[in-house]
Amino acid sequence: MTTPDPDPLAQQLAEVVGDAHVLVDPGLRAGYETDFTGRWAGRARLVVRPGGTGEVVEVVRRCAAAGAAVVPQGGNTGLVGGSVPGPDGTDVVLSLRRLDTIGPLDPRARQITVGAGVPLAALQRHVRPQGWDFGVDLAARDSATIGGMIATNAGGERVVRYGTTRANVAGLEAVLADGGVVDRLAGLPKDNTGYDLTHLLAGSEGTLAVLTRARLRLVPLLPERVTALLALDSLDAALCVLTALRRLESLELAEFFTADGLGLVLQHTGLPAPFRGAHPVYLLAECAGRRDPGEELAAALEDAPVREAAVALHASDRGRLAAYRERHTEAVNAAGVPLKLDVTVPLDDLPGFVGGLPALLDGRARAYVFGHLAEGNVHVNLLDVAPEDEEAVTEAVLRRVAAAGGSISAEHGVGRAKARYLHLSRSAAEIRLMRSVKAAVDPGHVLNPRALLPPPGGA
Ligand code: MLT
Ligand code: ZN
Repeated sequence: MTTPDPDPLAQQLAEVVGDAHVLVDPGLRAGYETDFTGRWAGRARLVVRPGGTGEVVEVVRRCAAAGAAVVPQGGNTGLVGGSVPGPDGTDVVLSLRRLDTIGPLDPRARQITVGAGVPLAALQRHVRPQGWDFGVDLAARDSATIGGMIATNAGGERVVRYGTTRANVAGLEAVLADGGVVDRLAGLPKDNTGYDLTHLLAGSEGTLAVLTRARLRLVPLLPERVTALLALDSLDAALCVLTALRRLESLELAEFFTADGLGLVLQHTGLPAPFRGAHPVYLLAECAGRRDPGEELAAALEDAPVREAAVALHASDRGRLAAYRERHTEAVNAAGVPLKLDVTVPLDDLPGFVGGLPALLDGRARAYVFGHLAEGNVHVNLLDVAPEDEEAVTEAVLRRVAAAGGSISAEHGVGRAKARYLHLSRSAAEIRLMRSVKAAVDPGHVLNPRALLPPPGGA
């Protein structure tokens, strides 16, 4: 048996990052090639793990010169195939996880500079003891990295109060396809000098630049919190409760799930049922403030159509209630490889959309829906879809969403999963503009060429 010739690109990259950080062996690459649902899997030419911005510059330059596409990857918690390599063994996965430095917290500016590879939970552990917090929070906090969250403009649980990741980023450092470095780390709150490059790169899914560092906006850590899990008749009732909650400045979280999803979570986790009876819909709400927001939450809910309620003040009890919502993703994954469709529907349409899913799916899938109520963000998780039905089912759901004026991607991004459906949410003129931007900054299609934009010949 002959051993294959060593990949010359691997040798060139090892000169930059060291042998230990160029992974060629299939066993070492595996964790970077498949997403955590198992739906998106590919084969990388190699995985490279630079340790700083200078190394990223050199890696991108050398990959571009070798004609290799670069797929940037953070914690690999994405759900749309945007950070795993294609199937043909030609893509280089550029892992940013070693860029995990956390700079000093600047309380006067309310900002902090961190490396792209810092996991969200590590940032929280760093800033919370100092009385500060990052506005974005999500269930994948232990693995999701700040760079990945910015690249995908992650949403999560607290958008109702603090907005998506983009709104919480004051500046960025990023490496372009030609090795140029964009440095917007000053994070000036007033700087009206032309195109907003930070906000352009946030949500660009690694197609325009590789994010290496970020200047983050911080918010004061609010010490008093109350969490309520409400059992309700219907999604109409949930929207009615939401209307009452939206008056509260302290509202930080309004999440929904249904009886089916709760059943799956209980089965998977072994958690006790939250209430004696079963209910069609559940709403998890959290309020936070300098003073105990419990009273104002109770007042807001006084006339609300709530069947049963559980309220928690202490962190561990709050965590127990939150788990019924947060553990949906792992419960669905444990039940099979899901087809995940993350969409926004106008709030008025939410009950009709969810209620109409069985007819739309026509027995072709088992659906579990949950999500972020205040934004009309529904996570449609479909199990048991036959491979030959996947496209038709996806298209039926996304067309229904678009027809109602919603978005085919609320917070997970477009990635490879939805690139060919982008025209359902973006006009031809918008897609032309996006293509022009991509062509201007990455004419060689080096950076994540399979993600976000429809394949040539598509819309
Ligand atoms: C969530 O809200 O739990 C996440 O977006 C993950 C998911 O949709 O499964
Ligand atoms: Zn979500």
